Amino acid sequence: MDTISSKSNVNKSNIPTFGEDVEVELPTNEHPLIIRAKSNLNSIEWGRKYKNQLNDCLTIYGAILIRGFNIGNAEGFNDLFSTVSGDPIKYENRTSPREQVYNNVYTSTNHPKHQQIHMHTENSYSLVYNRIIAFFCLVPPLEGGETPIADERKLLNSLKQETLEKFNQKKIQYLRNSSPGIGLDWRTIYQTDDKKVVNQYLESNEFEYSWVDSDHLRVKWTLSAFQKHPLTNQNLWFNHMYFGLKCHYNPLVLEYFNEENLPFATYYGDGSEIEESVIQEFRDFYSQNSIVFKWEKNDFLMLDNMMFSHGRNPFKGERKILTAMSQPVDFH
Ligand SMILES: [Fe+2]
Repeated sequence: MDTISSKSNVNKSNIPTFGEDVEVELPTNEHPLIIRAKSNLNSIEWGRKYKNQLNDCLTIYGAILIRGFNIGNAEGFNDLFSTVSGDPIKYENRTSPREQVYNNVYTSTNHPKHQQIHMHTENSYSLVYNRIIAFFCLVPPLEGGETPIADERKLLNSLKQETLEKFNQKKIQYLRNSSPGIGLDWRTIYQTDDKKVVNQYLESNEFEYSWVDSDHLRVKWTLSAFQKHPLTNQNLWFNHMYFGLKCHYNPLVLEYFNEENLPFATYYGDGSEIEESVIQEFRDFYSQNSIVFKWEKNDFLMLDNMMFSHGRNPFKGERKILTAMSQPVDFH
């Protein structure tokens, strides 16, 4: 597993140059740290050479956009990602419809293009999550389709103390239903056709579950709202609460489904509703602090999945953004 190199003395006033053939732009409200190739560099050789510096910077800034390299395709993305972040892992306990395109490289999501995907940290509803997530732009969207990102360390500072205390005390409850026509099929979520394997997985994680009928699985579980970052030891907001809010559903969907049958929903750990005033704190934070940049072909965005959340804006035309994840961390 990659870690901060022990000899690192990188800090915000001491950014490595990453070689003469690239330029570095410090993060602003409009873009993350950008490392841009000025000439035709071999991305793998470059990645191998500057891997430690990249990971040091990621641990400080939480997000790096590598731009202007001729990465080319899913294989090139896989190779650069493996070089700097370790081998991509399988996408398990899924929430997003994705296609595997090369090894453990996937399409970022096949959600319909008119839908907004709300801010979240990948797999933060799971007991095992990926510390790193990367995106690669194969075909930039014609219009919209940005991947907004936001610094969750700032979120923690922006929330009211009483809000933090409430989540600390109550934790977060997740509800998930999968059956034909509701959310992802359980076979897709758990990547098996065998119910025994699903049951075993849920039991070993101490998740409450029931087979409502032969093909409808309902699962409920509660997790902490916070997790310690494995490298910095910083306590961070790390959960899927915002993504699963009922207010994010189309009102027609809410009318159609009984609440207990919603594909994915979040509550306080005691099952009570999260108040509108609390939700508004999150809305305000994301509307004021999301970094939204235009995708360019060959963009490689690397996020520390605990430090930065991401989402997706609706789009028009074609859009091909690939994703890969690495460095699994276990909550247990
Ligand atoms: Fe995601």
